[in-house]
Formats: sequence, structure tokens, C-alpha cells
Amino acid sequence: MQKRLMAALVCIACVCGVYLLSTELPDKEESISEGTKFTVPERAVDAAASEQLYKNMCISCHGDHLQGAIGPELAHIGDSMTKEQIYKKISDGGGGMPAFEDRLTEDHLITITTWLASHK
Ligand code: HEC
Repeated sequence: MQKRLMAALVCIACVCGVYLLSTELPDKEESISEGTKFTVPERAVDAAASEQLYKNMCISCHGDHLQGAIGPELAHIGDSMTKEQIYKKISDGGGGMPAFEDRLTEDHLITITTWLASHK
């Protein structure tokens, strides 16, 4: 009788363990990805696509040759900012710079960031 009770308890413990594992794993992955440092993936510079995006969205404030206007000069921005800082600035804006998070896809954000970062 005692043995059966023990066996039943072990079974319940196993079922609980599997349940906990299966429900907790996604949470853990989420917190890991939140904790790791954000990096902009490596890409080849796509100048044509970037210039098009720049003309559509940025030229009015940063000038037709990246020389700056309302916004600062960007001609050597790859020297003073990392790709991650550039990406964040374009995505989040701030200090008079509009946020483009909702206006550019992540793909376009990476494209234009990679292009700007190549301006040293
Ligand atoms: C409405 C005007 C405006 C538009 C449009 C605009 N910016 Fe800006 N941008 C600014 C201002 C103003 C700053 C300075 C913000 C600050 O000092 O924090 C800035 C800062 C930046 C910076 C950081 C420069 C530095 O030296 O700190 C980057 C990079 C940048 N903009 C990229 C872009 C890109 C790429 C686009 C188009 C997708 C864009 N901006 C569109 C006004 C604008």
C-alpha cells in the first residue's frame, strides 16, 4: 500500500515537472533575449535602397549631401556613433529627431543604419 502511494506521488511529481518545464521555457527564452545586448546584424551596404529611403524620409532635416540642416550633419556619422546607436536614434528619435519605428520596417532600418555607419 505504502509503495503504491509512493509510486502515485512520483507520477504526480513527474507530470508536474513536465508541465512546469513546458510552461516555463518560453519565459526563460524571453528574458534571455531581453538581457542580451542588442546588435544590428551584419549586412552589405545597399546604397541605392538607402539613398531612396533617405530622400523620402531624412533629406529635409539632414540635407541632400548629409551635410545637415535642421538636424546634424551625418556625413561622418560612422565615426562618432556605433551601428546600434544609429539604429536606436532612427528608431526611437528624440531631441527633435522624429521616431521612425512605425514608419520604417526593421529591414529598412537595418538597411539605412548600415549605409550611414559606412560614412566615416
Ligand atoms: C524633422 C527633422 C528630422 C528628420 C525628418 C530626420 N531627422 Fe535625424 N535628427 C534630427 C535632429 C533635430 C537630430 C538631433 C537630435 C539630438 O540632438 O538628439 C537628429 C539626429 C539624427 C542622428 C544622430 C546624429 C548625431 O550626430 O547625434 C541620426 C543618425 C539621424 N538623425 C538619422 C536620421 C535618419 C536616417 C532619418 C530618416 C530616416 C532622419 N534622421 C530624419 C532631425 C530629423
